[in-house]
Amino acid sequence: MSIVFKDASFRYANSKKWAVKALSFRIEPGEKILISGPSGSGKSTICRMINGLIPHFYEGEFEGVVEISGLDTRNVRVARLSRDVGLVFQNPENQLVALSVEREISFGLENLGIKREEILRRIDWVMRLLNIERLRERLIHELSGGEKQLVVLAAIMAMKPKILVLDEPTAELDPVNSIRLINMIDELSFKLGLTVVIVEQRVDLIAPIVNRVLVLEEGEIIAYDSPWKVYSMDKVYNSGSAIPKLVELYHELRRVGVDIDRPALTVEEFLEVLGLND
Ligand SMILES: Nc1ncnc2c1ncn2[C@@H]1O[C@H](COP(=O)(O)OP(=O)(O)OP(=O)(O)O)[C@@H](O)[C@H]1O
Ligand SMILES: [Mg+2]
Repeated sequence: MSIVFKDASFRYANSKKWAVKALSFRIEPGEKILISGPSGSGKSTICRMINGLIPHFYEGEFEGVVEISGLDTRNVRVARLSRDVGLVFQNPENQLVALSVEREISFGLENLGIKREEILRRIDWVMRLLNIERLRERLIHELSGGEKQLVVLAAIMAMKPKILVLDEPTAELDPVNSIRLINMIDELSFKLGLTVVIVEQRVDLIAPIVNRVLVLEEGEIIAYDSPWKVYSMDKVYNSGSAIPKLVELYHELRRVGVDIDRPALTVEEFLEVLGLND
């Protein structure tokens, strides 16, 4: 399912300035995209434009076109879009509605009018898919933050979306749970051909697994390319966007005159770029 922005802009009703301006880009089915940029640059606004919360729930001025699988979001109800586009936010507490894990996962499915047997099949499937069978009988309030975020993801995946949009999903998680969640997202995308759009500050973890990085500055796109290309650009390095530590090292080494032709995203790759691997 492709995502297409054509000259898309949005200004919130109570704001004088455009939150995002004249955005044009495409995301192809099955791609994983990182959206990066300083605070207030428009990352969450893009997420809301993909799932139709903008323009349907947020008041404001909308220009241009956003198409999800060829459908103009202005002409499609949010309820319809939410079947194809799953959205995960930073705080799992705000997204959990039920008392137990099983109830949480069945909730959205019941709202879609899915039959009981199919719901049970989906619960089995998603528990295995995310490897969280151990949580099935548990109560939500007994879970850790990382476990709660996995349950949020399970409830969304149970609806079988084609596109997964995640807005800082690891913000409330510790490093271990963040790695776990990001690996899970990578695995889901691989197994199901899921399109993933993610806003993530832990760029060291996410950059190695995405196809492309979209970098925003004050609501405008300053770069949209593979992580290697994007992170080799000085304008991105100087933009105030989160930068992977190894990319910082690449820029600093170049600054002091070390001959190094491209940034690396993993330690092994860095050694390779430096010609130090064996
Ligand atoms: N509900 C809202 N009402 C009015 N203005 C808003 C609203 N949400 C965001 N904005 C404004 O739109 C611009 C983009 O905000 P957005 O939340 O998309 O940025 P962001 O990149 O997600 O920031 P952060 O990293 O802090 O989450 C900012 O100027 C912000 O103040
Ligand atoms: Mg945000």
